[in-house]
Amino acid sequence: MFDKLKQQVKTASRIKHNVCLIGILKNMPKFGTVLDAGCKDGIYQKYINFKKIESIDIDKNSNADVIGDLHDKKLLKDKHYNFILLTQVLEHCYNPTQVIDNLHKSLKKGGILLVSTPFFYRFHPDPNDYYRYTPDAYKYFFKKWQSFEIIPYGNFIDCIITILEKEVKVFYLLNIFSYLFKFTSMKTPAGYIVIAKK
Ligand SMILES: C[S@@+](CC[C@H](N)C(=O)[O-])C[C@H]1O[C@@H](n2cnc3c(N)ncnc32)[C@H](O)[C@@H]1O
Repeated sequence: MFDKLKQQVKTASRIKHNVCLIGILKNMPKFGTVLDAGCKDGIYQKYINFKKIESIDIDKNSNADVIGDLHDKKLLKDKHYNFILLTQVLEHCYNPTQVIDNLHKSLKKGGILLVSTPFFYRFHPDPNDYYRYTPDAYKYFFKKWQSFEIIPYGNFIDCIITILEKEVKVFYLLNIFSYLFKFTSMKTPAGYIVIAKK
């Protein structure tokens, strides 16, 4: 019973991620062809305005149209997408620069890549968990792109709750605090969202 409840309640980090991400997606223009990369259940697709959407994931049990590894240089068509969503995936990739290069090639000129990754978050293999990225890592990844913006989500309170919520039985009550403290911090966020233009 407790385990079932635990699965249904989102972590403080995901709550702040979702508020920030959905706000951004709802303010974006209509896109032609969109890719949900590392989509799992594709929970954010309903917030994107698109003509056509494709999805890819390495996990055979996901909802993806195509099962494939984003590290694979031959997986994606060149200059095909107007918008790529890569939420909570890059920390699971052993070679993030390879993945970002592949996504860059598959975007049309002027296309947008939206990446999100956790900053303070426990080890969560899916199927592996390799890295946490800082603003400096993102500056390095996107230095050759036309432009990019790094947006933090959450704050140190969310980070503390995120650590406690798996250890303390009343973890779901702690999430109330995450709703009360809405400020964000560049140095101690729950994570970052980056919007990069090719
Ligand atoms: C934490 S889930 C995030 C799912 C979804 N993007 C979201 O934000 O709800 C990470 C997903 O990335 C997928 N993934 C991990 N490494 C991958 C890779 N190399 N290529 C494609 N998908 C990958 C996993 O299978 C998993 O579905």
